[in-house]
Amino acid sequence: MSGRRDGSLFRTTGSAFRGSRLAVAVGIGILLGFIWAYLYPHGFLRSSGPNYVNAVSHPSSQVSSCESPERVKLLKSELQSVRETNANLRKQVRELSSKVHLSEQGQHNAQKQTSTLETQVKAGPIGNVKSLRTNPTILPDESINPDLAELLQKIAVKKELIVGLANYNVKEMLEVWSDSIKRAGITNYLVVALDDSVAEFCKSRGVPVYRRDPADAISKTVGKTGDNHAISGLKFHLLREFLQLGYSVLLSDVDIVYLQNPFNFLYRDCDVESMTDGYSNMTAYGYDDVSDDPSMGWSRYAHTMRIWVFNSGFFYIRPTIPSIELLDRVVDRLSKENAWDQAVFNELLFFPSRPGYEGLHASRRAMDYYLFLNSKVLFTKFRKEPKMPSYKPVIIHINYHPDKLPRMKAVVEYYVHGKKEALKPFPDGSEW
Ligand SMILES: *[C@@H]1O[C@H](CO)[C@@H](O)[C@H](O)[C@H]1NC(C)=O
Repeated sequence: MSGRRDGSLFRTTGSAFRGSRLAVAVGIGILLGFIWAYLYPHGFLRSSGPNYVNAVSHPSSQVSSCESPERVKLLKSELQSVRETNANLRKQVRELSSKVHLSEQGQHNAQKQTSTLETQVKAGPIGNVKSLRTNPTILPDESINPDLAELLQKIAVKKELIVGLANYNVKEMLEVWSDSIKRAGITNYLVVALDDSVAEFCKSRGVPVYRRDPADAISKTVGKTGDNHAISGLKFHLLREFLQLGYSVLLSDVDIVYLQNPFNFLYRDCDVESMTDGYSNMTAYGYDDVSDDPSMGWSRYAHTMRIWVFNSGFFYIRPTIPSIELLDRVVDRLSKENAWDQAVFNELLFFPSRPGYEGLHASRRAMDYYLFLNSKVLFTKFRKEPKMPSYKPVIIHINYHPDKLPRMKAVVEYYVHGKKEALKPFPDGSEW
Protein backbone atom coordinates (compact mmCIF):
# COMPACT_ATOMS: atom_id res chain seq x y z
CA MET A 1 0.00 0.00 0.00
CA SER A 2 1.41 3.29 -1.08
CA GLY A 3 -0.06 4.96 2.01
CA ARG A 4 2.12 3.01 4.43
CA ARG A 5 5.27 3.57 2.43
CA ASP A 6 4.61 7.30 2.47
CA GLY A 7 4.10 7.20 6.25
CA SER A 8 7.47 5.58 7.02
CA LEU A 9 9.20 7.89 4.62
CA PHE A 10 7.79 10.78 6.52
CA ARG A 11 9.06 9.42 9.86
CA THR A 12 12.66 8.92 8.72
CA THR A 13 13.01 12.44 7.42
CA GLY A 14 13.19 13.62 11.06
CA SER A 15 13.60 17.13 12.37
CA ALA A 16 14.16 18.99 9.13
CA PHE A 17 10.40 19.15 8.57
CA ARG A 18 9.40 19.79 12.15
CA GLY A 19 7.62 23.07 11.39
CA SER A 20 5.62 21.88 8.41
CA ARG A 21 5.09 18.35 9.66
CA LEU A 22 1.52 18.96 10.51
CA ALA A 23 0.66 20.48 7.16
CA VAL A 24 2.30 17.60 5.36
CA ALA A 25 0.39 15.08 7.48
CA VAL A 26 -2.87 16.77 6.63
CA GLY A 27 -1.92 17.01 2.95
CA ILE A 28 -1.09 13.35 2.81
CA GLY A 29 -4.36 12.58 4.54
CA ILE A 30 -6.30 14.46 1.87
CA LEU A 31 -4.31 12.80 -0.86
CA LEU A 32 -4.90 9.34 0.60
CA GLY A 33 -8.55 10.09 1.03
CA PHE A 34 -8.84 11.14 -2.57
CA ILE A 35 -7.01 8.10 -3.89
CA TRP A 36 -9.13 5.73 -1.83
CA ALA A 37 -12.32 7.45 -2.63
CA TYR A 38 -11.39 7.17 -6.28
CA LEU A 39 -10.42 3.52 -6.07
CA TYR A 40 -13.30 2.42 -3.85
CA PRO A 41 -16.26 4.68 -4.51
CA HIS A 42 -18.65 2.09 -3.09
CA GLY A 43 -17.63 2.25 0.52
CA PHE A 44 -14.28 0.58 0.95
CA LEU A 45 -13.51 3.39 3.33
CA ARG A 46 -16.40 2.59 5.60
CA SER A 47 -15.07 -0.86 6.41
CA SER A 48 -11.42 0.11 6.37
CA GLY A 49 -11.82 3.42 8.11
CA PRO A 50 -9.56 2.49 11.04
CA ASN A 51 -6.66 1.88 8.69
CA TYR A 52 -7.01 5.34 7.35
CA VAL A 53 -7.13 6.87 10.82
CA ASN A 54 -4.06 4.92 11.89
CA ALA A 55 -2.04 6.02 8.93
CA VAL A 56 -2.70 9.66 9.70
CA SER A 57 -2.73 9.49 13.48
CA HIS A 58 0.58 7.74 13.67
CA PRO A 59 2.67 10.78 12.81
CA SER A 60 0.34 13.02 14.78
CA SER A 61 0.75 10.92 17.95
CA GLN A 62 4.50 11.42 17.62
CA VAL A 63 3.83 15.14 17.56
CA SER A 64 1.52 14.99 20.52
CA SER A 65 4.28 13.66 22.78
CA CYS A 66 6.17 16.96 22.55
CA GLU A 67 3.49 19.55 21.62
CA SER A 68 0.92 21.51 23.63
CA PRO A 69 -2.71 20.37 24.27
CA GLU A 70 -3.95 23.30 22.09
CA ARG A 71 -2.00 21.94 19.17
CA VAL A 72 -3.46 18.50 19.79
CA LYS A 73 -6.92 20.04 19.78
CA LEU A 74 -6.18 21.86 16.54
CA LEU A 75 -4.82 18.69 15.07
CA LYS A 76 -7.89 16.75 16.03
CA SER A 77 -10.13 19.31 14.41
CA GLU A 78 -8.01 19.26 11.28
CA LEU A 79 -8.22 15.51 11.27
CA GLN A 80 -11.98 15.84 11.50
CA SER A 81 -12.02 18.22 8.56
CA VAL A 82 -9.87 15.82 6.58
CA ARG A 83 -12.44 13.14 7.29
CA GLU A 84 -15.23 15.41 6.14
CA THR A 85 -13.35 16.40 3.00
CA ASN A 86 -12.77 12.76 2.37
CA ALA A 87 -16.44 11.94 2.79
CA ASN A 88 -17.36 14.76 0.44
CA LEU A 89 -14.92 13.56 -2.15
CA ARG A 90 -16.27 10.08 -1.84
CA LYS A 91 -19.77 11.36 -2.35
CA GLN A 92 -18.73 13.40 -5.37
CA VAL A 93 -16.95 10.46 -6.94
CA ARG A 94 -20.01 8.33 -6.38
CA GLU A 95 -22.26 10.92 -7.95
CA LEU A 96 -19.91 11.35 -10.88
CA SER A 97 -19.68 7.65 -11.57
CA SER A 98 -23.43 7.29 -11.48
CA LYS A 99 -23.76 10.22 -13.87
CA VAL A 100 -21.25 8.60 -16.22
CA HIS A 101 -23.22 5.36 -16.02
CA LEU A 102 -26.45 7.13 -16.83
CA SER A 103 -25.00 9.01 -19.76
CA GLU A 104 -23.50 5.80 -21.14
CA GLN A 105 -26.90 4.18 -20.92
CA GLY A 106 -28.47 7.14 -22.63
CA GLN A 107 -26.00 6.97 -25.47
CA HIS A 108 -26.62 3.26 -25.84
CA ASN A 109 -30.35 3.76 -26.13
CA ALA A 110 -29.94 6.63 -28.54
CA GLN A 111 -27.93 4.44 -30.87
CA LYS A 112 -30.53 1.73 -30.77
CA GLN A 113 -33.51 3.88 -31.44
CA THR A 114 -33.52 6.77 -33.85
CA SER A 115 -36.70 8.24 -32.59
CA THR A 116 -38.42 8.43 -29.27
CA LEU A 117 -41.19 10.45 -27.79
CA GLU A 118 -39.34 13.59 -26.84
CA THR A 119 -41.96 14.92 -24.50
CA GLN A 120 -43.22 13.25 -21.39
CA VAL A 121 -46.95 13.09 -21.05
CA LYS A 122 -49.17 12.33 -18.13
CA ALA A 123 -51.17 9.12 -18.26
CA GLY A 124 -54.75 9.84 -19.20
CA PRO A 125 -57.80 8.52 -17.37
CA ILE A 126 -58.57 4.82 -17.26
CA GLY A 127 -59.53 3.53 -20.68
CA ASN A 128 -57.80 6.37 -22.49
CA VAL A 129 -54.22 5.13 -22.46
CA LYS A 130 -52.77 3.54 -25.55
CA SER A 131 -49.14 2.65 -26.18
CA LEU A 132 -47.24 3.19 -29.38
CA ARG A 133 -47.31 0.22 -31.72
CA THR A 134 -47.04 1.99 -35.05
CA ASN A 135 -43.35 2.74 -34.95
CA PRO A 136 -42.04 5.63 -37.06
CA THR A 137 -40.61 4.72 -40.43
CA ILE A 138 -36.93 5.22 -41.15
CA LEU A 139 -35.45 7.90 -43.35
CA PRO A 140 -35.04 6.32 -46.81
CA ASP A 141 -31.48 5.89 -48.06
CA GLU A 142 -31.39 5.58 -51.84
CA SER A 143 -27.60 5.46 -51.96
CA ILE A 144 -27.57 1.82 -50.84
CA ASN A 145 -29.00 0.65 -54.18
CA PRO A 146 -29.84 3.39 -56.71
CA ASP A 147 -30.95 0.89 -59.38
CA LEU A 148 -33.48 -0.75 -57.13
CA ALA A 149 -34.58 2.67 -55.85
CA GLU A 150 -35.35 3.74 -59.41
CA LEU A 151 -37.24 0.55 -60.16
CA LEU A 152 -39.31 0.75 -56.98
CA GLN A 153 -40.23 4.33 -57.70
CA LYS A 154 -41.97 3.09 -60.86
CA ILE A 155 -43.61 0.00 -59.39
CA ALA A 156 -44.62 0.77 -55.83
CA VAL A 157 -48.00 2.25 -54.97
CA LYS A 158 -48.06 4.42 -51.84
CA LYS A 159 -44.57 3.12 -51.04
CA GLU A 160 -45.77 -0.49 -50.84
CA LEU A 161 -45.36 -3.54 -53.00
CA ILE A 162 -45.52 -7.32 -53.07
CA VAL A 163 -42.13 -8.98 -53.35
CA GLY A 164 -41.63 -12.62 -54.34
CA LEU A 165 -38.40 -14.53 -54.76
CA ALA A 166 -38.10 -17.15 -57.42
CA ASN A 167 -35.66 -19.34 -59.27
CA TYR A 168 -36.36 -21.48 -62.29
CA ASN A 169 -37.40 -24.49 -60.14
CA VAL A 170 -40.66 -22.78 -59.19
CA LYS A 171 -41.46 -21.41 -62.66
CA GLU A 172 -44.85 -23.09 -62.93
CA MET A 173 -46.09 -21.89 -59.55
CA LEU A 174 -44.73 -18.46 -60.38
CA GLU A 175 -46.95 -18.46 -63.43
CA VAL A 176 -50.12 -19.23 -61.46
CA TRP A 177 -49.00 -16.74 -58.79
CA SER A 178 -48.35 -13.84 -61.16
CA ASP A 179 -51.46 -14.53 -63.25
CA SER A 180 -53.59 -14.36 -60.11
CA ILE A 181 -51.96 -11.11 -59.07
CA LYS A 182 -52.68 -9.54 -62.45
CA ARG A 183 -56.23 -10.84 -62.38
CA ALA A 184 -56.79 -9.21 -58.98
CA GLY A 185 -55.77 -5.88 -60.49
CA ILE A 186 -52.58 -5.57 -58.50
CA THR A 187 -49.78 -3.65 -60.22
CA ASN A 188 -47.34 -3.08 -57.38
CA TYR A 189 -45.51 -6.37 -57.30
CA LEU A 190 -42.03 -7.52 -58.14
CA VAL A 191 -40.22 -10.79 -58.62
CA VAL A 192 -36.64 -10.95 -57.40
CA ALA A 193 -35.12 -13.35 -59.91
CA LEU A 194 -32.49 -15.63 -58.47
CA ASP A 195 -31.27 -16.84 -61.85
CA ASP A 196 -31.21 -15.60 -65.43
CA SER A 197 -33.74 -18.07 -66.79
CA VAL A 198 -36.42 -17.00 -64.34
CA ALA A 199 -35.60 -13.36 -65.13
CA GLU A 200 -36.15 -14.11 -68.83
CA PHE A 201 -39.31 -15.99 -68.02
CA CYS A 202 -40.72 -12.98 -66.13
CA LYS A 203 -39.80 -10.55 -68.89
CA SER A 204 -41.47 -12.71 -71.52
CA ARG A 205 -44.68 -12.68 -69.49
CA GLY A 206 -44.62 -9.00 -68.60
CA VAL A 207 -43.97 -9.66 -64.94
CA PRO A 208 -41.95 -6.91 -63.20
CA VAL A 209 -38.61 -8.45 -62.35
CA TYR A 210 -35.47 -7.45 -60.57
CA ARG A 211 -32.31 -9.38 -61.25
CA ARG A 212 -29.50 -8.82 -58.84
CA ASP A 213 -26.02 -8.42 -60.14
CA PRO A 214 -24.93 -12.08 -60.31
CA ALA A 215 -21.48 -11.07 -59.09
CA ASP A 216 -22.60 -9.73 -55.74
CA ALA A 217 -22.18 -11.72 -52.56
CA ILE A 218 -25.86 -12.37 -51.94
CA SER A 219 -26.50 -13.68 -55.45
CA LYS A 220 -23.48 -15.95 -55.29
CA THR A 221 -24.60 -17.79 -52.18
CA VAL A 222 -27.96 -18.69 -53.67
CA GLY A 223 -26.77 -19.28 -57.18
CA LYS A 224 -24.70 -22.16 -55.87
CA THR A 225 -27.24 -24.02 -53.78
CA GLY A 226 -30.60 -22.86 -55.11
CA ASP A 227 -32.53 -24.96 -52.60
CA ASN A 228 -35.61 -23.82 -50.74
CA HIS A 229 -33.95 -23.33 -47.38
CA ALA A 230 -31.18 -21.19 -48.80
CA ILE A 231 -33.80 -19.05 -50.54
CA SER A 232 -35.81 -18.70 -47.34
CA GLY A 233 -32.80 -17.35 -45.51
CA LEU A 234 -31.89 -15.14 -48.39
CA LYS A 235 -35.22 -13.39 -48.54
CA PHE A 236 -34.64 -11.77 -45.15
CA HIS A 237 -31.33 -10.53 -46.40
CA LEU A 238 -32.80 -9.09 -49.58
CA LEU A 239 -35.75 -7.52 -47.81
CA ARG A 240 -33.46 -5.24 -45.88
CA GLU A 241 -32.66 -3.21 -48.98
CA PHE A 242 -36.33 -2.63 -49.73
CA LEU A 243 -36.94 -1.39 -46.21
CA GLN A 244 -33.81 0.75 -46.22
CA LEU A 245 -35.12 2.40 -49.36
CA GLY A 246 -38.23 3.29 -47.38
CA TYR A 247 -40.74 0.78 -48.76
CA SER A 248 -43.20 -1.44 -46.95
CA VAL A 249 -43.05 -4.93 -48.36
CA LEU A 250 -45.66 -7.63 -48.55
CA LEU A 251 -43.33 -10.58 -48.76
CA SER A 252 -44.96 -13.41 -50.66
CA ASP A 253 -43.99 -16.99 -51.38
CA VAL A 254 -45.02 -18.13 -54.83
CA ASP A 255 -47.30 -20.96 -53.64
CA ILE A 256 -50.05 -18.41 -53.14
CA VAL A 257 -53.13 -17.57 -55.19
CA TYR A 258 -54.42 -13.99 -55.02
CA LEU A 259 -58.17 -13.48 -55.24
CA GLN A 260 -58.37 -9.87 -54.05
CA ASN A 261 -55.94 -7.01 -53.55
CA PRO A 262 -54.36 -7.58 -50.10
CA PHE A 263 -53.44 -3.92 -49.74
CA ASN A 264 -57.12 -3.18 -49.22
CA PHE A 265 -57.13 -5.41 -46.12
CA LEU A 266 -54.05 -4.38 -44.17
CA TYR A 267 -54.06 -2.49 -40.88
CA ARG A 268 -50.51 -1.09 -41.18
CA ASP A 269 -50.32 -0.44 -37.46
CA CYS A 270 -47.50 -2.84 -36.62
CA ASP A 271 -43.96 -3.56 -37.63
CA VAL A 272 -44.97 -7.01 -38.81
CA GLU A 273 -48.43 -8.08 -39.93
CA SER A 274 -48.42 -11.72 -40.84
CA MET A 275 -50.65 -14.52 -41.97
CA THR A 276 -50.89 -17.31 -39.45
CA ASP A 277 -50.56 -21.06 -39.56
CA GLY A 278 -53.50 -21.18 -37.14
CA TYR A 279 -56.85 -22.59 -38.26
CA SER A 280 -59.19 -21.43 -35.46
CA ASN A 281 -59.55 -18.37 -33.27
CA MET A 282 -57.53 -20.03 -30.55
CA THR A 283 -54.68 -21.36 -32.65
CA ALA A 284 -54.48 -18.27 -34.83
CA TYR A 285 -54.72 -15.60 -32.16
CA GLY A 286 -53.41 -17.29 -29.05
CA TYR A 287 -54.80 -19.02 -25.99
CA ASP A 288 -54.09 -20.19 -22.49
CA ASP A 289 -53.00 -23.80 -22.70
CA VAL A 290 -53.31 -25.18 -19.16
CA SER A 291 -50.87 -27.94 -18.34
CA ASP A 292 -51.65 -30.36 -15.55
CA ASP A 293 -49.18 -31.90 -13.11
CA PRO A 294 -51.33 -33.80 -10.50
CA SER A 295 -48.29 -34.45 -8.30
CA MET A 296 -48.29 -30.73 -7.42
CA GLY A 297 -51.70 -30.99 -5.76
CA TRP A 298 -53.07 -27.50 -5.10
CA SER A 299 -50.93 -25.97 -7.89
CA ARG A 300 -51.36 -28.78 -10.39
CA TYR A 301 -52.52 -26.43 -13.15
CA ALA A 302 -49.89 -24.29 -14.81
CA HIS A 303 -50.96 -21.82 -17.44
CA THR A 304 -49.01 -21.58 -20.65
CA MET A 305 -49.26 -19.28 -23.65
CA ARG A 306 -49.68 -20.79 -27.07
CA ILE A 307 -50.09 -19.47 -30.56
CA TRP A 308 -49.63 -21.08 -33.94
CA VAL A 309 -46.69 -19.52 -35.71
CA PHE A 310 -46.74 -16.56 -38.05
CA ASN A 311 -46.20 -17.73 -41.58
CA SER A 312 -42.92 -16.34 -42.83
CA GLY A 313 -44.08 -16.94 -46.39
CA PHE A 314 -46.61 -14.13 -46.34
CA PHE A 315 -46.14 -11.08 -44.16
CA TYR A 316 -46.29 -7.33 -44.43
CA ILE A 317 -43.31 -5.52 -42.96
CA ARG A 318 -43.02 -1.77 -42.46
CA PRO A 319 -39.70 0.08 -42.84
CA THR A 320 -38.98 0.68 -39.16
CA ILE A 321 -35.99 0.11 -36.91
CA PRO A 322 -37.53 -2.93 -35.17
CA SER A 323 -38.37 -4.47 -38.56
CA ILE A 324 -34.85 -4.06 -39.84
CA GLU A 325 -33.47 -5.38 -36.58
CA LEU A 326 -35.70 -8.42 -37.01
CA LEU A 327 -34.34 -9.09 -40.50
CA ASP A 328 -30.76 -8.65 -39.34
CA ARG A 329 -31.28 -10.99 -36.43
CA VAL A 330 -32.88 -13.68 -38.59
CA VAL A 331 -30.02 -13.47 -41.06
CA ASP A 332 -27.48 -13.61 -38.26
CA ARG A 333 -29.09 -16.65 -36.61
CA LEU A 334 -29.41 -18.50 -39.91
CA SER A 335 -25.77 -17.87 -40.70
CA LYS A 336 -24.73 -19.46 -37.41
CA GLU A 337 -27.03 -22.44 -37.10
CA ASN A 338 -28.88 -24.81 -39.33
CA ALA A 339 -32.33 -23.57 -38.36
CA TRP A 340 -35.65 -23.20 -40.13
CA ASP A 341 -36.15 -19.54 -40.98
CA GLN A 342 -39.81 -19.59 -39.94
CA ALA A 343 -38.96 -20.91 -36.48
CA VAL A 344 -36.28 -18.27 -36.02
CA PHE A 345 -38.61 -15.55 -37.29
CA ASN A 346 -41.22 -16.51 -34.69
CA GLU A 347 -38.83 -16.95 -31.79
CA LEU A 348 -37.47 -13.48 -32.40
CA LEU A 349 -40.95 -12.01 -32.57
CA PHE A 350 -42.37 -13.72 -29.51
CA PHE A 351 -39.73 -14.71 -26.97
CA PRO A 352 -39.14 -12.16 -24.19
CA SER A 353 -35.83 -10.82 -22.97
CA ARG A 354 -34.15 -13.14 -20.52
CA PRO A 355 -30.77 -13.39 -18.81
CA GLY A 356 -28.17 -13.24 -21.53
CA TYR A 357 -30.63 -12.32 -24.25
CA GLU A 358 -32.29 -9.10 -25.24
CA GLY A 359 -35.63 -9.66 -26.88
CA LEU A 360 -36.79 -7.88 -30.01
CA HIS A 361 -39.29 -5.09 -29.44
CA ALA A 362 -41.30 -5.33 -32.61
CA SER A 363 -45.07 -4.91 -32.73
CA ARG A 364 -46.98 -7.63 -34.57
CA ARG A 365 -50.42 -8.41 -35.84
CA ALA A 366 -51.93 -11.70 -36.93
CA MET A 367 -53.90 -11.42 -40.15
CA ASP A 368 -57.49 -12.63 -40.29
CA TYR A 369 -57.18 -16.34 -41.03
CA TYR A 370 -60.52 -16.30 -42.83
CA LEU A 371 -59.26 -13.68 -45.28
CA PHE A 372 -55.64 -14.77 -45.59
CA LEU A 373 -56.23 -18.49 -45.84
CA ASN A 374 -53.72 -21.22 -45.31
CA SER A 375 -54.46 -24.47 -47.07
CA LYS A 376 -55.38 -26.29 -43.86
CA VAL A 377 -58.26 -23.86 -43.33
CA LEU A 378 -59.33 -24.19 -46.95
CA PHE A 379 -59.25 -27.95 -47.22
CA THR A 380 -60.29 -29.03 -43.73
CA LYS A 381 -62.94 -26.41 -42.95
CA PHE A 382 -63.72 -23.85 -45.58
CA ARG A 383 -64.62 -26.02 -48.50
CA LYS A 384 -67.10 -27.91 -46.31
CA GLU A 385 -69.05 -24.86 -45.24
CA PRO A 386 -72.37 -24.26 -47.02
CA LYS A 387 -71.79 -20.53 -47.42
CA MET A 388 -68.37 -20.99 -48.92
CA PRO A 389 -69.16 -20.44 -52.62
CA SER A 390 -70.33 -16.88 -51.99
CA TYR A 391 -67.32 -15.97 -49.91
CA LYS A 392 -64.09 -14.81 -51.48
CA PRO A 393 -60.86 -14.84 -49.42
CA VAL A 394 -58.06 -12.42 -50.18
CA ILE A 395 -55.34 -14.98 -50.73
CA ILE A 396 -54.91 -18.72 -50.36
CA HIS A 397 -51.52 -20.06 -49.39
CA ILE A 398 -50.89 -23.73 -50.17
CA ASN A 399 -48.50 -24.06 -47.25
CA TYR A 400 -49.89 -27.17 -45.56
CA HIS A 401 -49.74 -29.40 -48.63
CA PRO A 402 -46.82 -30.66 -50.70
CA ASP A 403 -48.82 -31.01 -53.93
CA LYS A 404 -48.79 -27.27 -54.30
CA LEU A 405 -49.19 -26.76 -58.01
CA PRO A 406 -52.31 -28.92 -58.54
CA ARG A 407 -53.98 -27.41 -55.48
CA MET A 408 -53.16 -23.89 -56.66
CA LYS A 409 -54.65 -24.65 -60.03
CA ALA A 410 -57.73 -26.14 -58.37
CA VAL A 411 -58.17 -22.97 -56.32
CA VAL A 412 -58.12 -20.92 -59.51
CA GLU A 413 -60.63 -23.26 -61.13
CA TYR A 414 -62.94 -23.03 -58.14
CA TYR A 415 -62.82 -19.32 -57.44
CA VAL A 416 -62.09 -17.84 -60.84
CA HIS A 417 -63.76 -20.21 -63.26
CA GLY A 418 -66.55 -21.29 -60.92
CA LYS A 419 -65.89 -25.01 -61.20
CA LYS A 420 -67.74 -26.24 -58.11
CA GLU A 421 -66.07 -29.65 -58.09
CA ALA A 422 -62.51 -28.38 -58.45
CA LEU A 423 -61.51 -28.76 -54.78
CA LYS A 424 -63.24 -32.10 -54.22
CA PRO A 425 -60.59 -34.57 -55.39
CA PHE A 426 -58.05 -33.48 -52.77
CA PRO A 427 -57.79 -35.11 -49.36
CA ASP A 428 -57.82 -32.88 -46.24
CA GLY A 429 -54.24 -33.66 -45.43
CA SER A 430 -51.53 -35.39 -47.34
CA GLU A 431 -49.70 -38.71 -47.27
CA TRP A 432 -46.56 -38.94 -45.24
C1 LIG B 1 -63.55 -15.74 -33.93
O1 LIG B 1 -63.07 -14.43 -33.88
C2 LIG B 1 -63.81 -13.53 -34.67
C3 LIG B 1 -63.10 -12.20 -34.65
O2 LIG B 1 -62.67 -11.88 -33.39
C4 LIG B 1 -65.24 -13.44 -34.13
O3 LIG B 1 -66.00 -12.55 -34.91
C5 LIG B 1 -65.85 -14.83 -34.17
O4 LIG B 1 -67.13 -14.83 -33.60
C6 LIG B 1 -64.97 -15.83 -33.45
N1 LIG B 1 -65.48 -17.16 -33.67
C7 LIG B 1 -65.65 -18.03 -32.71
C8 LIG B 1 -66.15 -19.36 -33.11
O5 LIG B 1 -65.44 -17.76 -31.54
